[in-house]
Amino acid sequence: MTDRISIIAPDDWHVHLRDGEMLTQVVPHTAHRFQRAIVMPNLRPPVTSVAAAQAYRERIRLACPADLEFTPLMTAYLTDTIDPSELERGFREGVFAAAKLYPANATTNSAAGVTDLLQIDPVLETMARIGMPLLIHGEVTDAEIDIFDREAVFIERHLAPLRERHPELKVVFEHITTEQAVQYVSSVDRHLAATITPHHLHINRNAMFAGGLRSDFYCLPVAKRECHRQALRRAATSADPRFFLGTDTAPHERASKESSCGCAGIFNAPFALESYAQVFDEEGALAHLEAFTSLNGPEFYNLPVNSGRVILERRDHLVPELVNGLVPFHAGEILSWAVADASDQVQL
Ligand code: DOR
Ligand code: ZN
Repeated sequence: MTDRISIIAPDDWHVHLRDGEMLTQVVPHTAHRFQRAIVMPNLRPPVTSVAAAQAYRERIRLACPADLEFTPLMTAYLTDTIDPSELERGFREGVFAAAKLYPANATTNSAAGVTDLLQIDPVLETMARIGMPLLIHGEVTDAEIDIFDREAVFIERHLAPLRERHPELKVVFEHITTEQAVQYVSSVDRHLAATITPHHLHINRNAMFAGGLRSDFYCLPVAKRECHRQALRRAATSADPRFFLGTDTAPHERASKESSCGCAGIFNAPFALESYAQVFDEEGALAHLEAFTSLNGPEFYNLPVNSGRVILERRDHLVPELVNGLVPFHAGEILSWAVADASDQVQL
């Protein structure tokens, strides 16, 4: 049995670092485990200009402990009226690594998102021309569509047609949750990849209703049936370069999650790497962990692989109920993989 593995230092290709007080609380958790991270732009107001992204990047740097080597990779928030030349300038100047498409009202702080994909075709043409990746929250917002079907319907209605209109555009289908998404991504040879979160590998939709309403497991896209979780586990652990790590860590104050209209999002940054390692171990695929955490993402984004390494060891540890006043994913559970140098873990 493998009890210790060394992997190239990982990156997180999808994080919400928030702003203000919460930013200072959550940045160290991501920076401690990941060398780079793609930072989501769904702030209030959203990050729609180069200047806003530069200012946010500076706030993230200030919140990052000085001894950690961490590079935030910034994204632009697409709106119906965003100027393609602003995106192009930001990408060429190395401020924007990608742009994020939120269908309007699909999720947290997405009210200013895109209402009609056809309207932003000139923006997508520019992005395809300059090689700027498009990151997609892939859910339809049509209230007539069952919430558990919104991702699958998005593929047919929007993603496949978009890719036909822009075959050269690099697309990341973010936080996929369904067998249909796995099949779609697996069927495409170039310019399409997907991120997979730890929570969608661990929980199915029952988790939200286990013994009562469990807001800690509510996120968007919502977790689906068990067969979908199994398809995600097969994809993540397959070493297929089209699938890579993106935690979608999305902290919310406890009171906001537990209100009568609770927010979607799971704060998984503190134990994300350990959480993924457990899945790969359970699937007998530890040999493929490094491809998922540290190789496939840089390859898609055309970035160098990190030079540092991280050692993971088999060691039971209890995940605390709260981290900085926030409920972490796996709170109160015992995880069986730990980062070797982790001084912040509660030992059993
Ligand atoms: O669960 C989620 N939380 N999904 C998203 O798409 C957004 C995120 C957030 O910002 O809270
Ligand atoms: Zn997200």
